[in-house]
Amino acid sequence: MTHKHWDDIFQTTEQERLGWYEPDTSLTWKMLKPVGPGEGRAVFLAGIGTSSLADEMAEAGWSLLLNDLSPAALGILRSRLPAEADVRLVAQDMAVPLPDDLPGVDLWVDRAVLHFLTDREAIDGYFQNLRGLVRPGGHVLLAEFAPDGAQRCAGLPVHRYSLKEMEERLGDGFVAVAERRHVYHNPNGDPRPYVYGLFQREGA
Ligand SMILES: C[S@@+](CC[C@H](N)C(=O)[O-])C[C@H]1O[C@@H](n2cnc3c(N)ncnc32)[C@H](O)[C@@H]1O
Repeated sequence: MTHKHWDDIFQTTEQERLGWYEPDTSLTWKMLKPVGPGEGRAVFLAGIGTSSLADEMAEAGWSLLLNDLSPAALGILRSRLPAEADVRLVAQDMAVPLPDDLPGVDLWVDRAVLHFLTDREAIDGYFQNLRGLVRPGGHVLLAEFAPDGAQRCAGLPVHRYSLKEMEERLGDGFVAVAERRHVYHNPNGDPRPYVYGLFQREGA
């Protein structure tokens, strides 16, 4: 997958018109309650796009590893964040190995990114990256289209997830902590059912 498809969307669409625009991230914060405070801890935000979750997590004291396939999205987001925020940009496809020098993280958050990986090799690559980066005791929040959710988004096919499949893909050593079904309404008012799963890695 190249970044052009996503760059075009971010460069030609107002943030509020993006098909996944979420003005209120309170559900994510509710799901993240068991994770605890951000000070002195690092989060990897996979495919963060231009989400205000990044601004909020910086404000809450998290060190940010901001990933997206689209350099255009990361450019918009970085220019919005305070210059002094502790941020590293990771512009790449989540299906291919992450740079070796990334620090381990206490939290991994993905809303509506993983479901764009549709072939086995890409999905395996994503979970290899996740397992390589999340520290023992760390948490993972995945929010993906539910089994009865839409079959396409942003003009692309998606792979829909149940909590069970999330658990299976994470593999041994991750325990489900919380689950939530949520029907998001996109800017056109169309319902988009999601499954949210919070997991914790054993150990620490
Ligand atoms: C539907 S948007 C969600 C954006 C953000 N997570 C949110 O909730 O607002 C999907 C995002 O994933 C990014 N993306 C798509 N495929 C990706 C991949 N293979 N690796 C990394 N990012 C990807 C896109 O550029 C886009 O920013």
